[in-house]
Amino acid sequence: MGAANHVPEEAIRRQYEYIDLIAARNAEKAQFLGQKPRAVAHTFGCQQNFADTERLAGMLSEMGYELTEDVNDAALILYNTCAVREHAESRALGNVGALTHVKKARPETVIALCGCMVQQEQVAEKVKKSYPHVDLVFGTHALWRFPELLFRTLTGKKRVFDISGDERGEIAEGLPVLRGEGARAWLSIMYGCNNFCTYCIVPYVRGRERSRDPEAIENELRELVAAGYKDITLLGQNVNSYGKDLGLGLDFSGLLRRLDKVPGDYLLRFMTSHPKDASERLFDTMAECRHVAKQLHLPFQSGSDEILRRMNRGYTSAHYRELIVYARGKMPEITLSSDIIVGFPGETEADFVQTLSLVREVGFDMLYTFLYSRRSGTPAAEYPDSASKEEKQDRFERLLKAQDETVEGRQAAYLGKRLRVLVDSTGKSPEYPFAARTEGGLLVCCVGEGLRIGEFAEVEIDRTTLRCLFAHTVSQHIIYKG
Ligand code: SAH
Ligand code: SF4
Ligand code: F3S
Repeated sequence: MGAANHVPEEAIRRQYEYIDLIAARNAEKAQFLGQKPRAVAHTFGCQQNFADTERLAGMLSEMGYELTEDVNDAALILYNTCAVREHAESRALGNVGALTHVKKARPETVIALCGCMVQQEQVAEKVKKSYPHVDLVFGTHALWRFPELLFRTLTGKKRVFDISGDERGEIAEGLPVLRGEGARAWLSIMYGCNNFCTYCIVPYVRGRERSRDPEAIENELRELVAAGYKDITLLGQNVNSYGKDLGLGLDFSGLLRRLDKVPGDYLLRFMTSHPKDASERLFDTMAECRHVAKQLHLPFQSGSDEILRRMNRGYTSAHYRELIVYARGKMPEITLSSDIIVGFPGETEADFVQTLSLVREVGFDMLYTFLYSRRSGTPAAEYPDSASKEEKQDRFERLLKAQDETVEGRQAAYLGKRLRVLVDSTGKSPEYPFAARTEGGLLVCCVGEGLRIGEFAEVEIDRTTLRCLFAHTVSQHIIYKG
């Protein structure tokens, strides 16, 4: 131990050779057609999946493809899939199903599926049998071999499937990346999950926890800052266990302190934190690091200790409350968000009421609420269920209502306040031509002279609704965290 277990450099170099081989074929095509062949790379999953897609898009771009969003115009269509809930799977499969007409019209189009959903053997099997127009399927652990797999697909006669596991627990460094425009960027600091919450498929499809070397992370952060990104989110399924596998004596707080020293005018966010490993040390670090945004996404899933125990979450609701009190004590301005599962097998009305009370008591700025979705292969899939579909739906709606009541008050409290925001995109209405985020991640629709995407500004809040703060600028182009 002492460093991450890397895919050997030699193996990465080989991928670059495949990139070159495909690029040569594409250059010929481009000459013939008068334009580069186009490729779609679309994500159906979480931010980690999105960050993976940025790598895949980077490889595609170096292979000479031009990225597009239009499947009707593409020589290659790659969908990066998610398995976390049934809805995510059916959405991906529905979209893949809809590609039969593309394949019919243009049989030479390559259709590829990758990521968490197809890492599951039974799903890969289903694709093999029922989706014959899919040419290439590869799981999360084969992502770095995409150039080689694509080359085999393009040159061979057979469909290519690679859903091998992660026995070696390797990390691939040095792959190309094509990032989105705007001020936001994603930076993976670790992969996989060891927690095995009983409802969750992620540990099965993403493998064991692996942390990237701190040098690699710091270098990437420096590149991002130099490229002008100002809102950078560190990603991991449970960032609080960063470094445990490295044996360097560096934990997540240590990593944050190290990254915070990278000079520049930018905000650092991170997700996701697990309450069982979130510590006072982490909150002290957040409070003391100038670049670290005072924003915390801390999913509690359920307010009932019995349900938490059956979910294998490893904390109680009392512990969760203590964490929030400590974090708010250190950072009174902090914004808080959480994930909640409604209708976990065996959840009673009394259990649910405890979730509701926790939501009311804490007062979250944002909630991501999910109806429990049975994932085959997870322990909870075998747990007996009691509540009916209607009861679960009713609980879900009561939860949303309670949250809306909280948010209304929290948003209204910003009226007349001056805040620093980062302008990150154009707005949806001409009245407010720009959309920005506060340090806490709240959406602000802005108007004013001289606003520019990717720059910080100071605004005053004129009006608030449930979803948005509306503001005019007080000063532009400010240096915020530099
Ligand atoms: N690693 C993160 C969460 C990743 S999944 C964490 O532990 O916080 C994002 C969210 O999806 C989870 O927090 C959970 O609320 C939800 N989720 C996961 N599995 C689910 C399932 N089977 N049904 C419904 N929601 C689920
Ligand atoms: Fe899933 Fe739990 Fe891991 Fe989060 S911590 S990814 S919910 S198993
Ligand atoms: Fe993310 Fe979905 Fe995979 S939530 S890790 S894309 S299962």
